[in-house]
This record gives sequence, structure tokens and C-alpha cells, in this order.
Amino acid sequence: MFQKLYNPTLRSQKEQRVTQDGTTTLYSKEFDECYHSTKDGALQESLQKHILPAFSLCQNKKQLTILDICYGLGYNTLTTLYYHRKNRLKSKLHIISPELDKALVQSLKEFEYPEEFSDLQDIINSLSQNFYYEDENYKIEILIGDAREQICNISTPIDIVYQDAFSPKKNPALWSKEYFTDIKSVASKDIIVTTYSSATPVRMSLYENGFLLYAPPKSSVRSGTIASLKELPLEVIDMELKKQRNPNAKAIYDKELL
Ligand SMILES: C[S@@+](CC[C@H](N)C(=O)[O-])C[C@H]1O[C@@H](n2cnc3c(N)ncnc32)[C@H](O)[C@@H]1O
Repeated sequence: MFQKLYNPTLRSQKEQRVTQDGTTTLYSKEFDECYHSTKDGALQESLQKHILPAFSLCQNKKQLTILDICYGLGYNTLTTLYYHRKNRLKSKLHIISPELDKALVQSLKEFEYPEEFSDLQDIINSLSQNFYYEDENYKIEILIGDAREQICNISTPIDIVYQDAFSPKKNPALWSKEYFTDIKSVASKDIIVTTYSSATPVRMSLYENGFLLYAPPKSSVRSGTIASLKELPLEVIDMELKKQRNPNAKAIYDKELL
């Protein structure tokens, strides 16, 4: 449906970049963007922007289903496992992660990951080869293909979404109002969405679906947004006030991307 937004002929063209915290990311020629903020650092961005806020808001759940949008280099999935093991958490995790770029995932068994992931090499190898890993604590599925199609096939209610596509300008089909309608259709009633984006059109796409919006707890990485369908003990982002102050503010709509 959104083929014209992608350019598979450039997909294999990537360059390594070392980020501020010393961890390695890639630059994508197709999207003309890095997979992580080089200023925040790949590992720190993943930990501070997604994993810490999400887990602090979901402490009491015995089973968590996480939608990692999208797998990319796998930092969000792997940092989740690192954090979960380091803190000896008892919850069972099911991680579902769509990804368009099959060759990238297949290459990751050789990727220069940080020391923190050294105990995860068996899992990395399995994901890279089979797009799947399962043991008594973790079930991880990488769904190769377009996230817009894959999300509609998910049958387990999602507790956490790491919303980590490329930027809304470069990857708009994963930030539109209709995209978040699909996310809501697979959400548990207390879903938590974490994202690095604080762009008004993204917030409007969430808000028009009934999501409540919050400022993330202060951290060392750039600000973003936390969204949920229920009230959270965080600073509220008043979207009605934002709309009054900026009457031209609008969501991203699929029909404008076609
Ligand atoms: C910013 S990177 C994700 C970084 C990743 N979360 C990590 O921790 O390494 C965005 C990823 O989204 C993928 N992508 C973009 N559009 C997609 C789509 N429609 N469906 C599935 N994957 C998509 C890209 O191939 C890229 O790997």
C-alpha cells in the first residue's frame, strides 16, 4: 500500500557509526538517517527512552507482551533482555518485532554489539538465523515484512510498544493516525507506548485515537512521549491547550501518504 515510501534498491547501503556512549549503530542510505541518535548513544537511548519508563510502569505484570517497532539492529529487544536478566525480574516476556529488512536481521549475528549483550549471543544467533527464539522465560518473534500488514495479524494483547521507527518525515506510514488505530486494536487496556518523538503531528495521531499523552521522566537522553489509554502518574501533555495555541496542528493521515 505504501510502496512508494520505500526504496529497496538502497536498502543494503549502510555505514557504521559509533555513538556518544561508545556503542555502534548504522546509517541507512534508504532513509538517510541513523538507526539511533548518535548524541544519546544507541544503548542509552534504548534503555532510557524505552526500557526503563516502560518497565517502571508495568512492574506488577507476570507476563508482558511487547511490540518492538521495528527490530532494526535489535537494541530495544536485546536491552530489554539485558535489563530483565540484570534485575532478575520474574515476568515472562513475549516480544514481537516486525522488520522490513530481512538481510539486515540475517547479518546481525556478526554485529559489533556492546559488552552488555555478550551473554545474549545464542539468542542473537537464533534470531538472526530463524527470526525466532524461545526458552522458559522469553519468546521472541521477528516478523519479516511490512509492519502495517503484520500488526493486523497479532492476536495477543500488547502491553508495551517501543515506537522506534525512523523519523516521521522519513518513515511516515509508521506514525499516522490509521497506524495508531491499528496499534490500539491490538492493545491491552493499560498499554504503554514509548517513543523518542515529541513532534506535534505524532502526538496528534495518538491523541485522535484516544491516547493520553505524557512527558517521559527526566533522563539523560532527548525528550519524547509516553502514551497510554489509562491515566499514568506522569506529567500530562495537554493536547487541547496545544490545539488552541496552534490551530493548524494536525495528525499524519494515510491518505496524504499515498
Ligand atoms: C530506527 S530503526 C529501528 C531501530 C531499532 N529499534 C533498534 O533498536 O536497533 C527503524 C527500522 O524500521 C524498519 N522499517 C521501516 N519501515 C518499516 C515497515 N513499514 N515495516 C517494517 N519495518 C520497517 C527499518 O528497516 C529499520 O530497521
